Amino acid sequence: MERELHDRLDDLMREPHPLYARARAAQGLVHVPELAAWLVARDEDVREVLRRTEEFSSANALRPDVMPSPAALAVLAGGFGAGPVVVTSDGELHQRLRAPLVRALSPARVAATVPYARERAAALVDGFAKDGGVELMAAYARRLPGDVIGRIVGLDPADVPLVVHGGHRAEELLFRPLPEAEQIAAAQDVVAMQHVLDRCARDRYTCPRADLCTEIVASVSEPGHAELPLEQRHEAVAHLQNLLIAGHLTTTALIGTTLLHLLGHREQWELLREQPELIPAAVEEAVRHDGPLQGFRRVTTRPVTLAGTELPAGAELFVAFGAANRDALRHPRPDTFDITRSAPARHLGFGFGAHACVGAQLAREQLRITVEEFTRRLPGLRLADGHPVTMRPTMIHRSPEELHLTWPAD
Ligand code: HEM
Repeated sequence: MERELHDRLDDLMREPHPLYARARAAQGLVHVPELAAWLVARDEDVREVLRRTEEFSSANALRPDVMPSPAALAVLAGGFGAGPVVVTSDGELHQRLRAPLVRALSPARVAATVPYARERAAALVDGFAKDGGVELMAAYARRLPGDVIGRIVGLDPADVPLVVHGGHRAEELLFRPLPEAEQIAAAQDVVAMQHVLDRCARDRYTCPRADLCTEIVASVSEPGHAELPLEQRHEAVAHLQNLLIAGHLTTTALIGTTLLHLLGHREQWELLREQPELIPAAVEEAVRHDGPLQGFRRVTTRPVTLAGTELPAGAELFVAFGAANRDALRHPRPDTFDITRSAPARHLGFGFGAHACVGAQLAREQLRITVEEFTRRLPGLRLADGHPVTMRPTMIHRSPEELHLTWPAD
């Protein structure tokens, strides 16, 4: 029974658009048993939920699809990270946790990171440009965002692969039904990542630097101790882990879907080669049409009515940014991928309101750099024959499982 539900959930996650279309057309809200939530699918309703933060709490925003086994939980208990995080907090606590992130990811700070991101993107492409073919997710998409966010946080570059791996393993542990031994191994990888983050936090408490780790540590602690107290170590690691996972898995996913859709619509790829000034609009269209974060949860704090449906206190909602982004009342021809749309940024792919994405500009820059690099250096890029694309079963990092690309070798 449990297994059947997971299989149905996998199917739904790989291809959610038919369900979204039904929910947008329905009277009121639709309850979806696979998601164990009311689906909010229309642009207007999604905006309303995101505006009414006192009635629709973020406390369950990241509720896992799978509860880890007791043995995996015991491994996690040996790690760090018991502390509030921005994405699941409300009100004043949320504002306190969000403030250092907004500062550290300001337009000026992001602009200062662009040369490094460009250098890393070029170096990764150098690594396979002569080969005539590549599996993009492993060789590029899982690498650039980790390097970039790692630099902003202030991680030692040698630690970035372990931290990136830990982020992917945390996602698997909480959102995929894994066998027991795999759960334990995943939990060990997560704890290894947390120890690296803890080391960084403790170091920045005594030796501050101009990086995001220092800002986060300062925001959770008081100066004057010989070393960062244990409770604040937990808080800093929770905060850092949340930011890192929010920062790299999403961007990795968007690199994959953007290239998938651009190469699947050859004329739009050719248009970008001729008119690179359209690249920012193409990135927005990729986020609108098939963005990584299809939706996050909310829970009602009191009885409320939404779209004519009465909900009791404690009702779970799945707020589907991905469904709202295909609402014909907001986006004409919503199912068509079209990089020449007149108002490309009016989508909800980076959220809206109090919890709107703090890293949107950083993600946009990495995508702009990526598409510029690929259109310029590999103009003959194509989807490789014989590798049908399947989407990963996830609502939070929607992307191809693998993306095999090919081009005429020099
Ligand atoms: C393609 C890339 C990305 C997409 C599609 C994306 C999407 C989103 C969305 C939809 C939300 C709103 C969640 C909600 O309302 O509950 C959000 C929040 C957030 N994002 Fe992003 N994001 C991306 C990249 C990034 C990056 C690069 C960072 C950090 C460097 C980041 C950090 C965050 C954080 C910390 C929040 C929580 C903000 C809050 O709760 O106040 N994201 N993101």
